[in-house]
Amino acid sequence: MKATVWCAPYKVSVENVPDAKIINRRDAVVRIQATCICGSDLHLYDGCIPFMKPGDVMGHEPMGVIEELGPDVDKSKLKVGDRVVVPFPIACGACFFCRRGLTSCCDNTNIKSHLADKVFGQPTAGIYGYSHLTGGFSGGQAEFLRAPFADVNLQKVPDELTNEQAVMLADIFPTGYMAVAHCDPKPDDTVAIWGCGPVGQFAIRSAMLLGANKVIAIDDGKRVPNRLEMARRSGATTIDFSDEYVYDRLMELTGGIGPDICVDAVGMEAHGWSLDGVYDKVKSMTMMETDRPKVIRQAIHCCRKGGTVSIIGVYGGFADKIPTGALMNKGLTIKTGQCHVHKYVPELLGHIKAGRIDPSFLITHRLPLSQAAEGYKLFRFHQEEAIKIVLDPAA
Ligand SMILES: NC(=O)c1ccc[n+]([C@@H]2O[C@H](COP(=O)([O-])OP(=O)(O)OC[C@H]3O[C@@H](n4cnc5c(N)ncnc54)[C@H](O)[C@@H]3O)[C@@H](O)[C@H]2O)c1
Ligand SMILES: [Zn+2]
Ligand SMILES: [Zn+2]
Repeated sequence: MKATVWCAPYKVSVENVPDAKIINRRDAVVRIQATCICGSDLHLYDGCIPFMKPGDVMGHEPMGVIEELGPDVDKSKLKVGDRVVVPFPIACGACFFCRRGLTSCCDNTNIKSHLADKVFGQPTAGIYGYSHLTGGFSGGQAEFLRAPFADVNLQKVPDELTNEQAVMLADIFPTGYMAVAHCDPKPDDTVAIWGCGPVGQFAIRSAMLLGANKVIAIDDGKRVPNRLEMARRSGATTIDFSDEYVYDRLMELTGGIGPDICVDAVGMEAHGWSLDGVYDKVKSMTMMETDRPKVIRQAIHCCRKGGTVSIIGVYGGFADKIPTGALMNKGLTIKTGQCHVHKYVPELLGHIKAGRIDPSFLITHRLPLSQAAEGYKLFRFHQEEAIKIVLDPAA
């Protein structure tokens, strides 16, 4: 089968790889109909997560049709031919964490847990196509995908949803939603969101679905003016950090107290021209720090006293100069995590079916799988105003 494989930093290609097949008795094989490139894939593309091997199949945002089911899959839940979306974390459904809805913390699916034990203290869930730190599973930017614990993981797609709407439920819609929902927003809250990529765009829309009073979105108007424009169209007030002081603008917009909820939808590759931005760049280039926590620092600094900082952008290792003094003395709460996608899918299906959101609003590019390498370039270097790229293996 054809699949997108990681070759080296800044190089992926579509190659022939061994077919996905049933290995364990509760596996399924899914024929992929739509699959996306994620901001998280860019951390692998850029070589920031040093646990990829050449030939690893990428991708963790797929949907498609069940081609084959293992003998022990619960047939009252799934049958061959069902259209399904595949949440990016792989859950067993039975462990301490899965039973509490913390599916991205599943204790049983990261089969290479010795690596994660060392880096994180305990392993987190397996993730498709996301390096050997999360199990080394083959990813979904491919013609077919093997999905373990199929009756736990594959989420049936109602007929009224298009493939493009459904594929947004594999990761970024639930992720943007969790970024705000797990902060327990109140109706008069102001939510500030750093980063207007796919996750930030869904965090904006989700803050509105969850009843926030005001949503403020921050990004770089020189590099990605179209992303700020999309945020404005969604109803957010925007701050262009290439031209405005983020702290000053946030204080102006919140009567001097700061936002109640501050969402970091940027992650470990944040950029910026301030002294700390340059410091991070130098430290990460000299391997003295893996993550560039510019946005975490700024969010902690700007957040109102007693507010919540939600870190939904991905970090991989270690960061420097986190302002623990401000964090502690202002009494802030930190919420974070890889998204527990399974938990949010039913609620989000409800919003889509009720017509409160059409998650395909984000898609700017549709390409055949064979052009995945071009897709990565477009998305990584913000060419052609790319925001979300959907790959179609059948095209
Ligand atoms: N926690 C999860 O489950 C989960 C799931 C999916 C993605 N993610 C992570 O979320 C983050 C965003 O993903 P995406 O797909 O939107 O990525 P993306 O790369 O398309 O978007 C990131 C945006 O942040 C902006 N940015 C960079 N530095 C900034 C700064 N200092 N201030 C404000 N904005 C800044 C960039 O211009 C860009 O528009 C990534 O780190 C990704 O790995 C997390
Ligand atoms: Zn993703
Ligand atoms: Zn589990």
